[in-house]
Amino acid sequence: MNAGPEAPWALLAEVTHACPLHCPYCSNPLELVRRGAELSTAEWARVFEEAAELGVVQAHLSGGEPLLRRDLEEIAAAARRAGVYTQLVTSGLGLTAARLDALAGAGIDSVQLSLQDARRAGSDLIAGRDSYTAKERAAEVIRAAGLPFGLNVVLHRHNLDRLREIIELGARWGADRIELANTQFYGWALRNRAALLPTRDQLDRAKATVAAWRERRDGGPELVWVMPDYHEGVPKPCMGGWGARSITVGPDGTALPCPAAYAIPDLEPPNVRDRPLAWIWTESAAFNAYRGTGWMTGPCRECPRRETDFGGCRCQAYALTGDAARTDPACSLSPDHHLIRQAAEAAETGPARETAFVYRRPGRRSRP
Ligand code: SF4
Ligand code: FES
Repeated sequence: MNAGPEAPWALLAEVTHACPLHCPYCSNPLELVRRGAELSTAEWARVFEEAAELGVVQAHLSGGEPLLRRDLEEIAAAARRAGVYTQLVTSGLGLTAARLDALAGAGIDSVQLSLQDARRAGSDLIAGRDSYTAKERAAEVIRAAGLPFGLNVVLHRHNLDRLREIIELGARWGADRIELANTQFYGWALRNRAALLPTRDQLDRAKATVAAWRERRDGGPELVWVMPDYHEGVPKPCMGGWGARSITVGPDGTALPCPAAYAIPDLEPPNVRDRPLAWIWTESAAFNAYRGTGWMTGPCRECPRRETDFGGCRCQAYALTGDAARTDPACSLSPDHHLIRQAAEAAETGPARETAFVYRRPGRRSRP
């Protein structure tokens, strides 16, 4: 008898898609869940109980902007009751000392703050509104609360050349850890790819900056480098494998193996309103669709790296080829690799400065 999948260890709880910012690489789906369809406090409490029973030890309370949920303290308290270590993932807008105090008292164990750029103008341009000052204040509030403090910076063509400034700013703000997340191109980011895709030189310089910082690190923040995949010819081991480590639950209860998988049309994702999380994890067709290696075709099936990168990213395969079961085109062995190569080559000479962002907000465009 099949022993079934190992237990997941992480839950990404997207408690709302509402957000005060409009970043053109937002990881939320193009079709956002409206507020009236969001899970209630009691439904989130049940999700956390079921997640803990299933083996989840860590949760990210994310969005959108989770602070827009007035019941976030109650949701955090439910996570703590369930025994799950919980991180707040926030833009920082609306994070006062009093709110963080209440959240930490209820159940928030650590905070991850997003930052768009080291410089105010660049940060506000990407966020689509004034927000840098609010982030500065939020960093002070987090530091003063004494919670473990992570900074998350999505990297792209318009901020990679300021990586050193970004790291130095994170150190000044007192971050324990900086996640340097090279843009992953699906959803909003794919729509904005021509404006965001960096050149190989930019990435090479950024890697050297990270290596130099790590070498001379002297009590400053730990750096996490999320690998880019357009210039390497090697796919990323996306999500640590499909249905292998984590569950995403969207604002309306849609459960997915990864937050970008809303876009895969035949997946028919289950919903926590209809099914227990244990069934969703072990039995649902969506979580089993690309689990393990049995689904692989083409070059992946015989490839020695198949247990290392799991065939790359299903969402990227779907976004670029229309078939989520194909080898990730980021892989140089993929028959679709030219799709990535052409975009990467265009970035070397491309007119990115002339390209308007499509912000995560209908109808608004702006020039980088
Ligand atoms: Fe990974 Fe498949 Fe490429 Fe092999 S062929 S490196 S398993 S994506
Ligand atoms: Fe969904 Fe990679 S982003 S599998």
